Amino acid sequence: MSEILFLTATTKAARYAELLPQIEALTAAEPDRTANLANTAAALREAFGFFWVGFYLVKDDAAAAELVLGPFQGPIACTRIRHGRGVCGTAWAEARTQLVPDVELFPGHIACSAASRSEIVVPILKNGRVVAVLDVDSDQLNDFDADDQTALETLMQRAAAWF
Ligand code: SME
Repeated sequence: MSEILFLTATTKAARYAELLPQIEALTAAEPDRTANLANTAAALREAFGFFWVGFYLVKDDAAAAELVLGPFQGPIACTRIRHGRGVCGTAWAEARTQLVPDVELFPGHIACSAASRSEIVVPILKNGRVVAVLDVDSDQLNDFDADDQTALETLMQRAAAWF
């Protein structure tokens, strides 16, 4: 397993096409979920320079289930998000990707950082239930599109194997 990413493509779709097999190779032989989520967050941030990339995991050991901050890359962030709250909680409640071109126009958006301008959140589903979400934030408006959605959904379908 290589611990260096090889990325030469300049278009986003082509860069994802280079990156996804490398994340696959990096995580295939590793059974530990935390290690794989951590390296996935790091690889996405290294490849695209996103402002914040990380995971929130559904924890239902408390009285009420919540999303709790998991492995991430970027500035410190909110630690707990309730079901249906913000972009992450909505992705959890609806069990589908939320692509938000302008976070200020998303009702209930949780501003962990004032620098975040656009966001995509992709749920990880295991046996039909959301077990975690991937949250990617940009400090640019309208920074995510269908290329991000397609690639990140593919990646999160594979990530379900870690749960
Ligand atoms: N903006 C997210 C909260 C998580 S932080 O951006 C890292 C939301 O509205 O759910």
